[in-house]
Amino acid sequence: MLAGGGMASVLVRMLADGAFHSGGELAAALGISRAAVWKQVRKLGETGLLVHAVRGKGYRVSGGIDLLDAGQIRSGLSADAAALIDDLDVFDVVDSTNAVAMSRSRAGGGSYACLAERQTAGRGRLGRPWVSPYAANIYLSLVREFAGGVAVTEGLSLAVGVAVCDAVRELGVDQAMLKWPNDLVSGEQKLGGILIELSGDLSGNCRAVIGVGINVRMSAETAGGIDQPWQDLRSLGMDAPRNVVAAKVLSALLPAIRTFEDRGLEPFMDRWQRYDACRGRQVKLLGAGRDSTGVVLGIDSNGGLLLETQDGIRTFKGGEISLRGWA
Ligand code: BTN
Repeated sequence: MLAGGGMASVLVRMLADGAFHSGGELAAALGISRAAVWKQVRKLGETGLLVHAVRGKGYRVSGGIDLLDAGQIRSGLSADAAALIDDLDVFDVVDSTNAVAMSRSRAGGGSYACLAERQTAGRGRLGRPWVSPYAANIYLSLVREFAGGVAVTEGLSLAVGVAVCDAVRELGVDQAMLKWPNDLVSGEQKLGGILIELSGDLSGNCRAVIGVGINVRMSAETAGGIDQPWQDLRSLGMDAPRNVVAAKVLSALLPAIRTFEDRGLEPFMDRWQRYDACRGRQVKLLGAGRDSTGVVLGIDSNGGLLLETQDGIRTFKGGEISLRGWA
């Protein structure tokens, strides 16, 4: 729950309409004093929600709060996706939706998905934190059991990237592209990322938690901790509510995972090559043993990065691409 528990939730729901609410009105609704309302509002500010206080008018969140709702997300799912999901939860605040999904995984091949308004310990790739302000973005995790272990999940992150890129493009963001292995980018700015975490028997039945973070409407104030160029969907003209974004992503993701389980990466190869933001560019690959430079040729059939280096064409399984001019 939000800091302050149920009280904070009531406050958020009242402020969600974007209108001014006087301190007296909020105090009466919450059964607390005006001074206590002020304290609650300050706590909300700490979650990344920008609440304006105007003397004589009260409090408001300019533009309203675009809250997530499990029922609305479910009703926006394609028939295929609806048939593939067992349970869907929306939480107010969690440490990491990936951690929650891992603890809720289903035996026997079912899918469980969860989203949160905010993460207090959002996880990014390579041990980085994922900045996750309140009611601003998509923080989504999906858990699946895979028979066949890690080998089967090789390439999964690229297939997931393609599905997420498809969904974002369907929402009208035509410039969405992928940066190997699975960053969602617009130009040289990051729009979202994917973190897949595995557990269980890595050579037999294993669980994969597929975590997707997409920047939807993030203010510069709340993005303070991000250490690389970023962008959000709103700035690129996408104005759908987050429930619609979440439903689109799940509608692309769930069938894509099923396709991946049946046929591997092959059905995603063409689209991956089409969405490849780095193809033909001179890059530096960091953190894969030792740094390597070369021209990106694309990916191999397992999702490895093909680089044309001074020593010939080489394939890389891990690491991070740095383009000149990137932070
Ligand atoms: C990256 O570094 O590019 C991957 C970011 C993945 C962030 C998402 S947000 C939902 C899920 N929960 C997490 O803690 N991380 C992933």
